[in-house]
Amino acid sequence: MARNSAVDGDEVRMIEVGSAPTRFARGWHCLGLAETFRDGAPHQIDAFGTSLVVFETSNGTLSVLDAYCRHMGGSLAHGPVKGDSIACPFHDWRWGGNGKCTGIPYARRVPPLARTRAWTTIERNGQLYVWNDPQGNPPPADVTIPEIEGFGSPEWTDWTWNSLRVEGSHCREIVDNVVDMAHFYYVHFAFPRYFKNVFEGHVATQYMQSTPRHDISVGTSYDDPDSTLRSDASYFGPSYMIDKLWTEASGMTIETVLINCHYPASADSSVLQWGAMVNEARRAVGRDGERHGGAVRRGRGARVQAGRRHLAEQVAHRQSAAVGGGRAGVPAAPLVPAVLRRRRGHHR
Ligand code: FES
Ligand SMILES: [Fe+2]
Repeated sequence: MARNSAVDGDEVRMIEVGSAPTRFARGWHCLGLAETFRDGAPHQIDAFGTSLVVFETSNGTLSVLDAYCRHMGGSLAHGPVKGDSIACPFHDWRWGGNGKCTGIPYARRVPPLARTRAWTTIERNGQLYVWNDPQGNPPPADVTIPEIEGFGSPEWTDWTWNSLRVEGSHCREIVDNVVDMAHFYYVHFAFPRYFKNVFEGHVATQYMQSTPRHDISVGTSYDDPDSTLRSDASYFGPSYMIDKLWTEASGMTIETVLINCHYPASADSSVLQWGAMVNEARRAVGRDGERHGGAVRRGRGARVQAGRRHLAEQVAHRQSAAVGGGRAGVPAAPLVPAVLRRRRGHHR
């Protein structure tokens, strides 16, 4: 720890900022909901210190290439999709999803070595992921993004999805929050009652149970002072968290899956993304043991969910203000709404 001398001989701890890593973390990174890339147009994603282009080919596959053209640097993100290739707007060279040049309209043949970087992708849980490895190695078979149980079934809602560009803070600071119990009280208005970290391979899990702060009202059904939350949150690699949440509030149990993820844009900026899906079919059980599933689906649950989303926005705004208005190096907390951080005591 660095120390500075101050008046009267006191010493003040100085936080060593250090220098940010020059390479981007190895692992799977979520670029967003897959359906948002399925409009027939190329999409530019500024990530890993460069620009990528995402486009859909005729068989429905989403391909990701370096956006700058390997001919003379045109931006493929500004070119149209032609057949199964993306066409550069500069000289119309065509590039297939595997990175190979598929055609040059004014040339008799395509140079066999004409190829660009194609990123390894997977589409899962309605989301698109790319693999980044600074050394260019493929993903090990056991390093992947798991399928989220319930996704795609009629019992669960679709994803809500939001994103926020963060400037002036290295994205690796975000994952510090996995082991940060104290911030829940202040950032998420949740009083942790149980907290444990487990690290296994590339998966870092935080188990947390909490009750609400009674001195703060969030304006939803979750202000029930007896509400409780269980949260099982796992980072799969450096940037993608799946947070399974069980909330009990106002006599109902709500099961939610929350995604917190990011990808680096540059050495000191990144794009945070977060989204949630809710189990609408799970029957809520009241404290008297009575089932209230229908009421949850048709009325009360809808209000609770609306309140949850509203609060999620509030939390996002508050946290984005903290990130944007703060100094460089201030960790950007995962955008986890406080209402999703409460559950009646669940004992494991
Ligand atoms: S720069 Fe892309 S075709 Fe020439
Ligand atoms: Fe947090």
